[in-house]
Amino acid sequence: MIPGFSKLSREEKMDAVSLHCGLDDAERMLLNRFLHPTNQAVFDGFSENTLSNYFLPYGVAPGFVVNGREYVVPMVTEESSVVAAAAKGAAFWAQRGGFQAQILNTVKVGQIIFTYNGSDEELRACLPELKIILPRVTTAVTKAMQQRGGGITGMNFFPIPGVENTWQLRVEFQTVDSMGANFINSCLELMAPELCFILNQKGDVNKVAEISMSILSNYTPDCLVECSVECDVEELAGIAGNYSAGEFAQRFEQAVKVAQNDIYRAVTHNKGILNGIDAVALATGNDFRAVEAGAHAYAASHNGYRSLTEISVNDRFHYTLRLPLALGTVGGLTRNHPLAALSLRILQQPDARQLMQIVASVGLSNNFMAISSLITHGIQRGHMKLHLTNILQTLQATENEKRVVLDYFQHRTVSFTAVKEFIGQLRSI
Ligand code: MEV
Repeated sequence: MIPGFSKLSREEKMDAVSLHCGLDDAERMLLNRFLHPTNQAVFDGFSENTLSNYFLPYGVAPGFVVNGREYVVPMVTEESSVVAAAAKGAAFWAQRGGFQAQILNTVKVGQIIFTYNGSDEELRACLPELKIILPRVTTAVTKAMQQRGGGITGMNFFPIPGVENTWQLRVEFQTVDSMGANFINSCLELMAPELCFILNQKGDVNKVAEISMSILSNYTPDCLVECSVECDVEELAGIAGNYSAGEFAQRFEQAVKVAQNDIYRAVTHNKGILNGIDAVALATGNDFRAVEAGAHAYAASHNGYRSLTEISVNDRFHYTLRLPLALGTVGGLTRNHPLAALSLRILQQPDARQLMQIVASVGLSNNFMAISSLITHGIQRGHMKLHLTNILQTLQATENEKRVVLDYFQHRTVSFTAVKEFIGQLRSI
């Protein structure tokens, strides 16, 4: 316990942490080295108790053709091969018509959860009045959003199953180009006391409404994007490895069906989609935890957890990803983080709907490449090549050692032990 830690200056925090955790001068210097020379105040503003910055690679996957337009897509990820796979998939599909994406809906949802010992009918009877009065109390925050074409678009009561006398007013929003979390939460917190006031005035004195909480929902099944790729089966020959194009398509179809029917495989399959999606969400300053939560919940919403992709194979190979994506291109970090703003510029300043389409295309590209590898030569070959770079870094290999090791492991199985042993031999000569 370090009393009053948050109130200390950065230097004092460093002293306190050093004392508490036994950091030596070199470790303190390491933290200092990762401070930003000019923009540190900007980064400090994003979080609390900041001692330093944590770097992740910022890369790009060029050549994404989405609805006929070409994009260079910024990606932030620590996982080797994610950017390479996205780019490879983009190049493959660019030759075959690119990604076709469409927005199915953009509704976001917030919940005012409250206890009430009245009936369903009593609540529903108040709804027409609430639909008029509640939005009025939010005018201060909704005015600008309405001018941009968004705002509160609906509300309804639902019981919370299994929790006695507990209800939700589920409110629907359109948040245009913002992810909208702050907007939705502000609206809900303004409406909640008014909701209680109206319900308590209406019913008899024994029927009391009391707010439990007001918060947006990260379950956004009606903020949906769909993205597809399609080609003649014969056109898959270039990626089929030792299989014929037809065999590859059949193996691919089987792999997707497995992910549609087995939760162990489905979660990994969807994780591969989110590898790409999270990386673009992060690069554009979007809330990737919200994206993850929403995507997995959606995957679990139809008779158990399943793949987010669908496939159809006859003479044509048609592969589709559908998932909820609550993304923004204004607000939050999207403009405040200098690299998030730059990412949006590299993406040619998309609106939120375009960003949803681009991001879904990256997810589909990563998944397509992952399945293609898994059903042909496996993923370790590609992964380990990239992993080799990290191992060499860890072993502080010289440029000359790197050259020799890369050559030696071109056709051999990479493992940390094998590389360490080989470098050991080199160094003992
Ligand atoms: C690794 O990060 C992602 C994969 O496991 C995805 C998949 O199995 O489909 C390769």
